Formats: sequence, C-alpha cells, structure tokens
Amino acid sequence: MPDKTDEAIQRSVDYYNSSDTDNYYRRIWGGESIHVGIYDEPGIGIPEAARAAVTYLANRLDTLGPGSTVIDLGSGFGGPLRQLVTDYGCNGIALNASALELEEMAKTNQRAGLAEKIKPLEGNYEDIPLDDAQADIAWSQEAFLHCGDRAKLMREVFRILKPGGEFIFADPMATESAPVEVLQPMLDRANLVSFGTVAGYLADAKAAGFIDRGYVDRTEDFLTNYRTIVAETRDRHEELKQEISEAFLKKIGNGMQYWVDGGENGHMVWGCFHFVKPNGVGP
Ligand SMILES: C[S@@+](CC[C@H](N)C(=O)[O-])C[C@H]1O[C@@H](n2cnc3c(N)ncnc32)[C@H](O)[C@@H]1O
Repeated sequence: MPDKTDEAIQRSVDYYNSSDTDNYYRRIWGGESIHVGIYDEPGIGIPEAARAAVTYLANRLDTLGPGSTVIDLGSGFGGPLRQLVTDYGCNGIALNASALELEEMAKTNQRAGLAEKIKPLEGNYEDIPLDDAQADIAWSQEAFLHCGDRAKLMREVFRILKPGGEFIFADPMATESAPVEVLQPMLDRANLVSFGTVAGYLADAKAAGFIDRGYVDRTEDFLTNYRTIVAETRDRHEELKQEISEAFLKKIGNGMQYWVDGGENGHMVWGCFHFVKPNGVGP
C-alpha cells in the first residue's frame, strides 16, 4: 500500500508527463509557466498576468539579487526561474518531479542562453536531493497542491535553506468549511490527493521553525485566471483538439469550471505566503 507521499508524487508525475497535459498547458499558458497570474493591469492576458505574478512575488523578497541562489520547487516549464535570473541576476535550481518538463526546460534555457545560470534537478520537494543550507530563497507557484505531506515539505524546505533564507510560495487551497463532496471533483481535475489550507500551511511552517512574514489573499486573481482559462478552453476547442484528446479537453474544461465555482462559493482560496528561516539556527 503506497503512503500518501508516494501516491501524490506518482499521480503528479503521471499527470505532467502526459502529452495531453503538456500540450494543453503550453498552449493555454504560452509555454513559459503554469500558474495563477496577477491581474492588476486591466485586460491583461494569461501569459502576461503569469509574468506579473513572478514580479509580484519577487517584490516581496528582501534578499533576491545577484549572487543569491533561488530554488524553484516544482519548476514546470522554467519560465519563472528564467524571468528571475534575467530580471534580478540570481542563480536558479529548478527542482521538478517531471523528467519530461525538466528535459524541455533545459532545451529552452539553452536557447535563451541561460543554461549556465539554471541547474535542472529531478526530485521530490518532500525529499529534496540537496545537502543542508544550500539555497538563499525557496520559491514555488502552484506546485504544492500536488503535495502528499505538507508538514514534511515545510521541514524539508527549512533544511535546505541557509539561516536567514526566505521562502515564498503561492498555492490554491481549500477553505476549512469546504465539504468533501464538493472538493473531490476539484481534486480530480489535476489528479490531486488533497488541498492545503491557509491555517494548515501557517501551522506546518511554524512547526518547522519558520518566522511568518504574512499571508496575502488574492483569490480574485485566481477567479479571473480560471474564468479566462475556461473561456479560452471553450473558444479554442477546434484548435486545441488538433493535438489534445477530446476526453482530456472535456475533463479539464469541466474541472476548471469546478475551480471557478469553488472560488465563487467560498470553498477555494488562493494567495501568497512569505516565511523566513531565523538567522543563527542550524538546518
Ligand atoms: C502547475 S505546475 C507549476 C509549474 C511552475 N511552478 C510554474 O509556476 O509555472 C506544477 C509543477 O509541480 C511539479 N511537481 C508536482 N509535484 C512535485 C513534487 N512532489 N516534487 C517536485 N515537483 C513537483 C510538476 O511536475 C509541475 O512542474
């Protein structure tokens, strides 16, 4: 019987290594990233909002800059790290459980002239293949929804950060009051085992030793993002079906709509956490 971590990672790898998933996300998000955007600028599209989200998170950090090492936990197509490396001069470690995405990311990094600045690393963020105290900043967008054991994840991120290191992430979460039967179809849409909650992440981070620098709710951006995606999936059906199976398009279209409904009905929230590992503590 697999434990919850094994089950979560297997489900995630199966999901992101599938050509339907890969093609769909590349076409809808533009091939750079797969995360909720920040829609402060009116009329902004999905790829531009996704870039704005990277800038938004980066602006919350105190130590990002030339010489800092950022590990992206669940790095997807690599767009967030390419943006950080280009805009802030940092170095990147791209940790991903999907070998397919890592391989493609390495090729894109090469074409962009960034191969020397971003190290691909295959692995699970619950068991990071790095020694203690290796990174200045741990970063993640829309990857922890795939996690099997969030308390373990927090302890692991704490371990690989240097003292004084920052940890920033955004994730879609369930609310405490969300009924199980409402959550199940939302989980099924991305092959998930469970959602985190705001209180759960805050408690797990505190137990791991982190200092809380504040959670910011941005559920409205999550809603704008997924409403736009539902509409694009519907409107671009003829184009998308040239490369993606009808069964996948139907499942994902319905699944994204469940997420919009979940957010509108108070069952899902989205926001950004920022933590610091205290100075002067060992890993
Ligand atoms: C929705 S995508 C987000 C990608 C990227 N963070 C971005 O913003 O574009 C989720 C990513 O998390 C990765 N992932 C899921 N579970 C993981 C795990 N346990 N360890 C490492 N990566 C994982 C997936 O392979 C995928 O690349």
